[in-house]
Amino acid sequence: MTRKDNWKIQELDGICFLTLDSRDREQNVLSTGIMEQLDKALDLVENSSSRGLVIRSGKEKGFIAGADITEFKNFDSPQRVLELTRFAGAVLHRIESLAIPTVAEINGHCLGGGLELALACDYRIVVDSRRARLGLPEVRLGIHPGFGGTIRLIELCGAPVAMDLVLSGRTISPATANKLGIVDFSVPQRQLESTARFVLERKPPRRKAGIMLRLLNYSPARTVISLVLRRRLEKKISRSHYPAPFSVIDFWQEHGGNRNAMFAAEQESISRLFTTDTSRNLVRVFFLQEALKSRGKRGGPVFSHVHVIGAGTMGGDIASWCAMAGLRVTIHDRDPDALARATQRAYQLFRSRLKSKRLAERAMDRFIQDTRGSAAAKADIIIEAIVEDADIKQAVFRELEKIARPDAILATNTSSISLETIARKLKKPGRLVGLHFFNPVAKMQLIEVVYGHKTYKKYRQSAAAFCSQIGRLPVAVKSSPGFLVNRVLMPYTLEAVAILNDGVAAVDIDLAATSFGMPMGPLALADTVGLDICLDVAENLADTFHFEVPDLLREHVRKGHLGKKSGKGFYSWKNGKPVTAKPGQKTEYDSKDNKVQQRLIFRYLNECVACLDEKLVGNQDDLDAALVFATGFAPFRGGPVNYLLSQGVEQKLQTLQGLQQEFGERFTPHPGWQNLANPGINEKNQ
Ligand code: NAI
Repeated sequence: MTRKDNWKIQELDGICFLTLDSRDREQNVLSTGIMEQLDKALDLVENSSSRGLVIRSGKEKGFIAGADITEFKNFDSPQRVLELTRFAGAVLHRIESLAIPTVAEINGHCLGGGLELALACDYRIVVDSRRARLGLPEVRLGIHPGFGGTIRLIELCGAPVAMDLVLSGRTISPATANKLGIVDFSVPQRQLESTARFVLERKPPRRKAGIMLRLLNYSPARTVISLVLRRRLEKKISRSHYPAPFSVIDFWQEHGGNRNAMFAAEQESISRLFTTDTSRNLVRVFFLQEALKSRGKRGGPVFSHVHVIGAGTMGGDIASWCAMAGLRVTIHDRDPDALARATQRAYQLFRSRLKSKRLAERAMDRFIQDTRGSAAAKADIIIEAIVEDADIKQAVFRELEKIARPDAILATNTSSISLETIARKLKKPGRLVGLHFFNPVAKMQLIEVVYGHKTYKKYRQSAAAFCSQIGRLPVAVKSSPGFLVNRVLMPYTLEAVAILNDGVAAVDIDLAATSFGMPMGPLALADTVGLDICLDVAENLADTFHFEVPDLLREHVRKGHLGKKSGKGFYSWKNGKPVTAKPGQKTEYDSKDNKVQQRLIFRYLNECVACLDEKLVGNQDDLDAALVFATGFAPFRGGPVNYLLSQGVEQKLQTLQGLQQEFGERFTPHPGWQNLANPGINEKNQ
């Protein structure tokens, strides 16, 4: 082996240890170069007199995190991908065919290609750690396993389990992997090597799917199961948006009974999928997410105590999320009942998300009610989440400034009041930042870190570091009405209400949005957020941006039809779900050229262009990331601006102009379209 090799090969007591330590990387990944080096290392293994092979990681924590995604941009043709997957498949086949027994020592994350490599070994031993995850999450990047993972997993634990893991991309703990038969042993770290030696010595029977499960891999059963799997998938996603999981079902149904044909079909399918827009865009979204994650990690202080004021919907959930993330939390509300309710909700969250009762109780110990509000004096960061009233917020911050530590961050969760207004009574207004969490806090990954022209850069950066510490994605947004996310969502939501007014059924309007790729329709979303909150935000933004607030929205709020929380809004709600009849017959007007979808999406896109032009965020990537992670904008389209650029700005502009002629001024293209259409000008935005 040369010094450049990422694999270290050693022979000890007649056992060959092949250790992967990806150079210059925190985690091991499988790049083309690493696979080539593995191929060469296998020459040495084959020619040695070792009686067993152990494949292990040189990283302290983690086996192999998957393929090297940074290489994906080079995979520009199906032919090139086919060559590479065939090569990698052949390397794993060599491991599988070795005359000596083979063991993978899995000491942490074992994902994608990493798990495929482990599956090619005779035995897998995993360290029983709470943090480690195992899985084949490729579908999240618009592809599926390509090194035989689908086939080997089916052989190991049967089609139902294997298909569930491959189609969902979900990852599992070592304990679950053991229960499902994916690994042979789950042991404490200190017993990893001794167990591997034991296995090589004794060669216990290898795990494989039982006879009943193997029967499910025969043709008639495959046909029935494939039908069920396809139906289930179609309820969640569409084939045209996310083709990869459908393709897995197709090639399994066709070739499941023939091992070699399955390998070939898996390789051919992945080589086609790699170069689809869906895969490119999902890879883009992956990198956007990584960029936001690392942004908050650049140095920055470590927070240990957060004080939250307001124990309502948002404050209570922000506090419990922070306690779950390991921080000590004090929470204050002027209403003791609100504190009691928030504490109850916190316990429910801890019990559902944390693995054991003991961990839930520890989190509970970190969640401390503060009826007097005096704990603010000791906190590293103070987050205000009280009623949306500028005077009350100003008064709260004026008092806080007197008692807070001079280095503590003062943050507001306001959704529509400008930072300048809230900071008006402060001696040092530059201390105030906005930390705009989204509802539900435990689900929404994005936090807008809002800054005004007076905000100190140091506080802005610390606020981003705080977001990272609690496992959230920070995007810096300039203080402006509605910030970024609500500003973009509002015209889209109001357009949905206008279409409802035109006589289109709510369910059809929402269907138009979900068939574009939105996770939820705008009317169901408005009902979920609360129509009173929507109306507040709409009225706050209406003057500045000349949005028309439809009477229908006001009427609902006046009647107390507030959406999910009151049981009635645009929908009737039962057991937390909207009661919908089957999607209504498409009206003639709607089916002409999908006008409903155009009206919704173009209001959304036009506002995105305006926000980009006004430089509310640093660049196009931040805008795309924020809207994917906060509004669920169709991830397979790579973000709204990416969608416009990839589809052709000129063409989309023409559609918008057509809508302007038909529906009036609210569709007037923002001047920013010209900058977007002209890359020279656009570059300045980057
Ligand atoms: P909420 O009405 O559920 O809770 C507000 C809590 O603040 C109540 O428990 C109230 O007793 C308490 N409170 C009011 N004045 C107080 C004071 N002076 N001192 C201590 N406690 C006080 O309100 P929600 O929905 O949690 O909203 C809070 C803030 O978060 C608002 O600024 C809102 O705009 C913002 N926000 C709300 C979102 C939502 O979906 N509800 C989403 C994002 C931001």
